[in-house]
Amino acid sequence: MSECKRYDTIVIGAGIAGLYLASKLPKSMNVLVLCKDIPWECNTFYAQGGMVTALDEQDIPFHIEDTLNAGSNHNLKEAVEILSKESIAVREDFVNGGMKFDLDANGELLYTKEAAHSTSRILHAGGDATGRYMHKFLMEKNIHKLQKNSLVYDLLIEDGRCYGVRVMVNYKPYTLYADSVVIASGGIGSLYQFNTNSRTVSADIHGICIEKGIELKDMEFMQFHPTVFVNTPYARKLLLTEALRGEGAWIVDDDGKRFLFDYDKRGELASRDIVSRSIFLYKREKGKKAYLDFSMFEEDWFRQRFPNIYKTFKNLGYNLPRDRVEISPAFHYANGGIACDIDGRVPGIKGLYVAGEASRTGVHGANRLASNSLLEGAVFAKRCADAIVNDGNHLPCELSFEKDYDTLLHEANDKKYKHKLREIMWKDVGIVRTRQGLLEAKNFIYDTKSKNIGRLLELRLNTASAIVQQALYREESLGSHYIE
Ligand code: SIN
Repeated sequence: MSECKRYDTIVIGAGIAGLYLASKLPKSMNVLVLCKDIPWECNTFYAQGGMVTALDEQDIPFHIEDTLNAGSNHNLKEAVEILSKESIAVREDFVNGGMKFDLDANGELLYTKEAAHSTSRILHAGGDATGRYMHKFLMEKNIHKLQKNSLVYDLLIEDGRCYGVRVMVNYKPYTLYADSVVIASGGIGSLYQFNTNSRTVSADIHGICIEKGIELKDMEFMQFHPTVFVNTPYARKLLLTEALRGEGAWIVDDDGKRFLFDYDKRGELASRDIVSRSIFLYKREKGKKAYLDFSMFEEDWFRQRFPNIYKTFKNLGYNLPRDRVEISPAFHYANGGIACDIDGRVPGIKGLYVAGEASRTGVHGANRLASNSLLEGAVFAKRCADAIVNDGNHLPCELSFEKDYDTLLHEANDKKYKHKLREIMWKDVGIVRTRQGLLEAKNFIYDTKSKNIGRLLELRLNTASAIVQQALYREESLGSHYIE
């Protein structure tokens, strides 16, 4: 890559939103997809359960209702309607393009159920490897240039216009200009000690947005997945897909009691915020552990339906479905994000767009309905690609953004502060929050920002600060924001 380049569109991120968006931009456009690490290190790759689509026109109102109920009606209804209505075309687009979703014996698409859905409407692939299959499919279809090992550390923004990005490619800095820049960099998982996210998802771009005065919305609504195996040394904890409960798995305590019914009559199939919180509160109150129990499943069926979970846990010494697995909730998904309109335009910044988990389209409200995330990534990415083509942004001929940071991306003590931040976010800005805990988190962030820290940590702290501020601002509990 040369020192300085101009593109028609730069897409930051190579998950479903980035790749699907790029696939909708014509080959004649000079498009660059920037990928922070290797392409499969993204949340899409690790998505297990599936992608929702409305089954047919009749199912649209029910999918909308389920999405609004799960989101505590904090959702933007217009965005939810778009999500559901356009889901059928997205499904057709993938299927007609050759994406292999799982089929039944008659060759028809198989749908599964997950929590808070009123019917089985979730497509899956490879049993429990939907994200991996969809990512591979999109990578194979990609027609544009994709640059690996590209860490974006600034957006070139001046006078309400985005001109491009500053990026470290293989540890070398570049200034890249573009008529349009799309943020499709995912959520904020690395801010939390226990999370299910790819290690690349570290809230840098959210932090840059805050620095530039771009609004982040609904950041108090962080989603915690209820069934995660956290007893591993790795940063990314092991997800046990909600589809397991959709197919009939139970959540039990040490004595085999299905305690979730004490909290909600839907038990294991209550919405994700309720299940996570109930597990957290039950463990705290009773001093007991929580487990996922698969003993109702027949072994051959289980191995076929959940092959990757079977294999992963076999390597850890478990014999599924016979053995139960201890679980904990863990951070999973950012319901909030960078504010945008229903076509992904970032208000007030010409040439800047956002898609996928990084965005706050309003579809998820206070808590995302299971498996709506891959769908959002596709539906709104397509709309965003259309907006880019129609908006026809053009940069001026002469550009000069050559000034660079005199600060370093990393400083010596960053690792120590980063780990402390992760612990504090989990403890004080997690599933059950208190005003006191939030204020302590706020103080820690404030103190750490005044230390000699690198730019990337500073960006993380910006994003953490937005979560804490918005959590403090919302004094009542709603959806995944629960204040005690
Ligand atoms: C899961 O498979 O449980 C995760 C799906 C999602 O995040 O919606």
